[in-house]
Amino acid sequence: MEKADLIKLALSARQKTYSPYSNYAVGAALLTKSGAVYLGANVENASYGLTICAERTAIFQAILDGHRDFERIVVATRDGGSPCGPCRQVMAEFSLDMIVTIVNEKGEIAAEGTVLELLPYAFTPKNFE
Ligand code: THU
Repeated sequence: MEKADLIKLALSARQKTYSPYSNYAVGAALLTKSGAVYLGANVENASYGLTICAERTAIFQAILDGHRDFERIVVATRDGGSPCGPCRQVMAEFSLDMIVTIVNEKGEIAAEGTVLELLPYAFTPKNFE
């Protein structure tokens, strides 16, 4: 799937967020290396710390379907905010070469780079080899 289509999907996933506490809606569209697409949105909770980010909802759904190699994730926020540290670590678990495309609410690209660029010197499964 083309990047432009993934951007549209991330923006549409952002409409499905449950974020009444922060009012900061995040959408994600994840493309696997085999061409499958998974969407994610942040899901908050009255017990704030239970919140899960958009990136991880998409990645975990893909994992449940047996995908572990990822090509690209598009993350959509109102201001082009970039993925939090824990989400970078979860991305690094599976695909250091995945491209992370960050867009604002208009779908304009705010930043783009690999997971390795977002999380240099990452701790990964390779550390157990
Ligand atoms: N959030 C994400 O979904 N992804 C990120 O990478 C950064 C933060 C969510 C969590 C919370 O629901 C809201 O944005 C404000 O922190």
